[in-house]
Amino acid sequence: MNFSLSEEHEMIRDAAREFAQSELLPGVIERDEKQQFPKELIKKMGEMGFLGMMAPTEFGGGGMDTISYVLVMEELSKIDASASVIVSVNNSLVNYGLAEYGSQEQKEKYLSKLTTGEKLGAFCLSEPEAGSDATSQRTTAIDKGDHYILNGTKNWITNGGSADYYLVIAQTDKEKKHRGINAFIVEKDWEGFEIGPKEQKLGIRGSDTHSLIFNDVKVPKENRIGEDGFGFKFAMKTLSGGRIGIAAQALGIASGAYELALDYSKQRKAFGTEICNHQAIAFKLADMYTEIEAARHLVMKAAWLKDQKQNYDLASSMAKLYASKVAMDTTIEAVQVHGGNGFVKEYHVERLMRDAKITQIYEGTSEIQKIVISRSIIDN
Ligand code: CAA
Ligand code: FAD
Repeated sequence: MNFSLSEEHEMIRDAAREFAQSELLPGVIERDEKQQFPKELIKKMGEMGFLGMMAPTEFGGGGMDTISYVLVMEELSKIDASASVIVSVNNSLVNYGLAEYGSQEQKEKYLSKLTTGEKLGAFCLSEPEAGSDATSQRTTAIDKGDHYILNGTKNWITNGGSADYYLVIAQTDKEKKHRGINAFIVEKDWEGFEIGPKEQKLGIRGSDTHSLIFNDVKVPKENRIGEDGFGFKFAMKTLSGGRIGIAAQALGIASGAYELALDYSKQRKAFGTEICNHQAIAFKLADMYTEIEAARHLVMKAAWLKDQKQNYDLASSMAKLYASKVAMDTTIEAVQVHGGNGFVKEYHVERLMRDAKITQIYEGTSEIQKIVISRSIIDN
């Protein structure tokens, strides 16, 4: 067993840390206030290689391991979770889905542009009436021989207004239930594809969340991913890896808040001493540090299992469940350590607290992670 990072991993982490400080930090409060999507930063993240980290090099990706990806996600999320969710969706849902299950033609045509940041991807599973209950897909794709006709609505889609390529899950045969679901690649400018208004959000306000409406969109058959009926398994398998990315995001939000709280507690004085000398504050820091370390171990274990090509479904759900709880608990306490300043935007912790909440909701709520975990431990 080895708990230390390789020199290469340290270099990748340090590059992401430096990027987050120099590029993400300067405008992060303004982007949050204005719900501004970081378009220019996406270009820069593409140049840094953050948008195609694990994808094969032959399709423009970095060919890196999941540990590297998790390290980058943590560093970006310490500063700007809106930017990091863009990285997460593009890497672990869209690129991974195409690299693992797409055809050679799909990889050449779509993946090679997504890995460099030239094009951006979105993953569209959730619907107004099918979130946790993901098999209840209402969006339909009717087989017309050489193409499908897509109709329906997707909800809360990250990168919804800004993506170029959308992986869309739809029901092709209702009788077959989840075995009659397929996944398709849809291009933004296709006729009948409409982007709904941008959602006004509590957190990750710099990210771009929209509903999507499909009105008789013609999707060529070659844009179906995998064999007929593979769509639900495609979504589940892809989400298993995605949950590692969101767990790393939660870890980053927690460690960002902890670092701010630690620094503040060493400077702020009350009753004649720095507040870190009051045991109530010191114990909060002790709890935060311990819980963050525990979350990091779970996240790294899940990433490691994926890199070892072992089953990581259980590990990724445990990592997401725990890291997202730690993100919520830590950010609430970080606001408390900051006192009145914790409530003020320029101190950053209030934003981290608002951003933390989404990690308990998307890519499977905490309740859904408990379903996955309990089924796994009871069945084995
Ligand atoms: N890998 C492969 N196949 C899987 C699987 C996995 N990890 N999990 C389930 N399946 C298969 C099952 O084997 C079953 O297929 P068979 O009958 O052929 O064996 C099929 O999927 C249905 O499985 P279940 O009976 O377990 O289905 P269920 O209705 O009980 O639901 C669930 C299972 C885990 C709750 C699932 O619906 C789920 O994960 N829901 C949450 C949805 C979600 O995470 N959405 C995220 C949207 S993306 C997003 O949020 C992105 C973002 O914000 C940035
Ligand atoms: P529901 O399924 O209606 O759940 C409501 C509550 O009931 C939750 O607390 C849930 O845990 C609980 N619940 C439901 N079923 C059970 C059960 N069986 N047992 C116990 N409790 C249960 N989706 C995408 O496809 N792509 C995206 O890019 C994407 N990005 C998102 C970005 C944001 C900012 C947001 C807010 C959401 C995004 N989502 C995306 C959707 C997200 O994945 C769903 O919101 C989430 O899966 C929950 O679904 P729901 O909102 O329908 O809640």
